[in-house]
Amino acid sequence: MTRSAAPAQEEGYVPSPPPEQMDGDHLSYEKTRRALRDLRRVNRWLWGYPSVLRSLLPRLNSGQRVLDVGTGSGDVAAAVLQAAAQRGVDLSVIGVDFKLRHLTVGRSWHPGQLRVVASADALPFATGAVDHAFSSLFFHHFGSDSNKAIVGEMQRVASQGVVVVDLRRSFLLRLTIGPLLRLLGAGSVARNDGHLSVRCAWSLAQVRSCQLQGRGQLRRRFPFRFALTLPGAEPPQQTLP
Ligand SMILES: C[S@@+](CC[C@H](N)C(=O)[O-])C[C@H]1O[C@@H](n2cnc3c(N)ncnc32)[C@H](O)[C@@H]1O
Repeated sequence: MTRSAAPAQEEGYVPSPPPEQMDGDHLSYEKTRRALRDLRRVNRWLWGYPSVLRSLLPRLNSGQRVLDVGTGSGDVAAAVLQAAAQRGVDLSVIGVDFKLRHLTVGRSWHPGQLRVVASADALPFATGAVDHAFSSLFFHHFGSDSNKAIVGEMQRVASQGVVVVDLRRSFLLRLTIGPLLRLLGAGSVARNDGHLSVRCAWSLAQVRSCQLQGRGQLRRRFPFRFALTLPGAEPPQQTLP
């Protein structure tokens, strides 16, 4: 009798991680609000905003539309709007999330952003409808097949380009995430999801081998993140020498 070999795993394949508590349907409004508040603290104190701003800000011009995919409360989008305004760049931001409740909590904190309930793998926008699309702490929620579809959608709707920022796999982060979350006073949902996120974070090698469309640039961002920039639906205009 011959033993059948286990199916060979395609290069660059990353399985889907288990769902985070925040992505489920059973959290009360109060627990959701608390978890989003904790996430805002994580972004504020653990260098969440600078990782996005460094890649996104230099690309932005007044009058542009920016899409934040998996926006949550719209906390990072608010930081982008504020930093751009300080440089005299006037933007409109649209946040997409599949949880209406996250958008509702966010609206009370950051009015003035457009918010759309939709799934990231089927964005309800025409090709090139926005100038830039970005995501923060979102990529690690998915395996490679879903991420190819989602990043492909972001590239389709964004004419200029896409920025994906997320946690980078790190042993040091695995060791320190518990004390860091305790220090920030995080509640049980944020602690559970924080640990899971760190366990499911991709290594740079995994991001590189995922075969996302187009020539991208992958950079480390201090201390535990990466930033991936990719072209959008429209190739940049060729300039004559
Ligand atoms: C960890 S939170 C990140 C929120 C925000 N981007 C930040 O950095 O603070 C991930 C968000 O992605 C949303 N989400 C998860 N799967 C999604 C999907 N398939 N389509 C749209 N949103 C999704 C969740 O509801 C949640 O609000």
